[in-house]
Amino acid sequence: MHKTDDTANVPEAFTALDLFGEPFALDPYPTLDALRQSSPVHHDPVTNLWLVSRYRDVRAVLLDPRTFHPDNAQQVAAPLTRRALLTLARARFTLPPALANNGGPTHRGLRALVTRFLDAHQVAAAVPLIDRTAEQLALDVREKIMVGAQCDLVKDFARVLPCRVLMELLGIRGVAPNALADWSDAALELFWGHPTPERQLHLVDQAIAFHAWLSAQVDGPATEGSLIAALRRHRLPDGTLLDPATAVSVCFFVFVAGHSTTGQLIATTLRRALEDGQAWRRATSEPGFAERWSDEVLRREPSVTSWRRTTTRDTTIGEVPVPAGAQLLLLLMSTGSDPEIFAEPEQLCPYRTNVRQHLSFGAGRHRCPGALLARTETARALRAAAYALPHLTLALDDTPPMLNLLSFRSPKRLLVQLG
Ligand code: HEM
Repeated sequence: MHKTDDTANVPEAFTALDLFGEPFALDPYPTLDALRQSSPVHHDPVTNLWLVSRYRDVRAVLLDPRTFHPDNAQQVAAPLTRRALLTLARARFTLPPALANNGGPTHRGLRALVTRFLDAHQVAAAVPLIDRTAEQLALDVREKIMVGAQCDLVKDFARVLPCRVLMELLGIRGVAPNALADWSDAALELFWGHPTPERQLHLVDQAIAFHAWLSAQVDGPATEGSLIAALRRHRLPDGTLLDPATAVSVCFFVFVAGHSTTGQLIATTLRRALEDGQAWRRATSEPGFAERWSDEVLRREPSVTSWRRTTTRDTTIGEVPVPAGAQLLLLLMSTGSDPEIFAEPEQLCPYRTNVRQHLSFGAGRHRCPGALLARTETARALRAAAYALPHLTLALDDTPPMLNLLSFRSPKRLLVQLG
């Protein structure tokens, strides 16, 4: 049964749907299951988003960039106050279409440029750095626990690793990793969250500081071999040099996409392995287990839970008519639990035959170019942590609060102790 309007037979489960609410953050699965079963293309009147939840529908949308444009991918998820908008405008804060939000002719070249920094060769070369960093962080955690200090695997481990690795890969210098991580998380919350007016002003300040720092990097002397040096030489299809505002936009998105998402996935992967009882040990004793475990977590509980597209014409998704200009929210997290594709989706089964069939990195023209890096970092982080801390357990009676942005979800903290 498909629903096409807001009033007719709206299942009770969806009338109180709050995509930013705590209940949805803590346990989104009942809602996602209900959507897939009874309203797979569902218009949410609160956000005016069309929620697309079945695997085959989401995949079809991702693979048809003519009908479904990515231009709305980075629009603010919830309206900003006039004051926040004015502050951004005064600071000349702008993010022209570059990568994820670029359906135009300049996308291909920019994507190729970024991909060169993230290809198999670059990731293989980064493995020693990833291992060294993960091992050192895990040992620091162990030392902290030994002296009786409380340890949070999100703050002390998951969030730090991708930031250090990304800075090295992209040739970023002259900024403290923590500052970069804070800017990146603030940008994520500003664009994909539902912050209060006061919080918006704080996040706006952070986003402006990040933007200003990037603008200064793009304007100043660039390190040879860095992303910024490559952007400054980049020519658009019409032969002109890339403008500085778009170069800043590329960097802004790559840093946010490359840092926050991976830290969130590492946090969820560690959490589920610690809860499982067996997985923590198997991560060190079974070759390939950590890689498969990370992919299963990506399928069932991805850090990027959804992604947006907009329709360029009247169309249908599945059998549901959708008008031109509709704002779609593709529920990637729901597709990973679609029983039509994944048997017993609620079980984490690292040896399922289609362990990599999930859509958690998107598909088609905009598919995540950082997928290999993210997978590699997550698996190696899990192995390093399990190896250095074989007797680690989650702190008793602690249900971690969840980061719940429109498209990002992960535990905000993971308190641990030695069991
Ligand atoms: C667990 C980690 C990650 C997840 C779950 C993730 C997920 C995604 C998703 C869903 C998209 C949109 C795909 C589409 O529209 O079809 C995307 C795009 C993108 N991601 Fe990732 N990503 C992750 C890590 C990374 C990393 C480490 C980098 C880079 C260092 C990165 C860079 C990008 C870029 C540049 C795009 C835009 C590509 C384009 O529009 O052509 N991501 N990612």
